[in-house]
Amino acid sequence: MTAPQVVVFANPDLLAAATAARLITRLTDIQAERGSASLVLTGGRTGTAVLAHLLAAPAKDAVDWSRIDYYWGDERFLPAGHPDRNETQAREAFLDHVNADPARIHPMEPSDGRFGDDPDQAAAAYAELMPDDFDVFLLGVGEEGHTASIFPSSPAVFETSKAVVAVRDCPKPPPTRVSLTLPAIRTADEVWLLTTGDSKADAVASALGGATEVEIPAAGARGVSRTLWLLDRTAAAKLS
Ligand code: 6PG
Repeated sequence: MTAPQVVVFANPDLLAAATAARLITRLTDIQAERGSASLVLTGGRTGTAVLAHLLAAPAKDAVDWSRIDYYWGDERFLPAGHPDRNETQAREAFLDHVNADPARIHPMEPSDGRFGDDPDQAAAAYAELMPDDFDVFLLGVGEEGHTASIFPSSPAVFETSKAVVAVRDCPKPPPTRVSLTLPAIRTADEVWLLTTGDSKADAVASALGGATEVEIPAAGARGVSRTLWLLDRTAAAKLS
């Protein structure tokens, strides 16, 4: 596990553009080394803005998007195609517009999928299809310090054996979700936490200031080779 490195950008747009560029560089390097790479996508405004910048980036075609495996760190447990699903948003923002291989897009089961309205089965099925590790794991951070759908002091933050869990009674709607756990996030080579806005400043300062992962789950998101916090100036405002 690596100590967090912090990079601060002047504004959210610059953060999204620079993160898209960083992603292109990292994925290009991995593909040059061994052909394929795995990328974990995140929902939220910042994650979606990164995808929009990725699509518009002049160097986008340096990456062979058909040789990337796409996963999600969490999902809102809603019917297929629901506009609030992270999958739907990532498809619209990016995946539908590049030559991503449909067989390498790995969404979590929807609430009207193979297991019907059973998020525990959806979680177990996702744990089965996941690789042992990921190359780049993108995450957002919530105002109270959640990351993926791991909320402060919730059962998911105490999970040590399962890689994927069903999350119920979420403080943020929708109440039912499926999420990777902190141990699963920590298998990733690089973890990049992206967050912007002054509403995140307290959570960012706590996470980087020694809060426990039970208090601020984002504090427990660490990569094997790298943990990167990509912030805009307002989200970084309370860092000492
Ligand atoms: C959700 C959101 C959430 C989000 C963070 C950061 O599932 O409710 O996706 O987890 O990633 O709250 O969101 P912003 O990037 O919009 O600040």
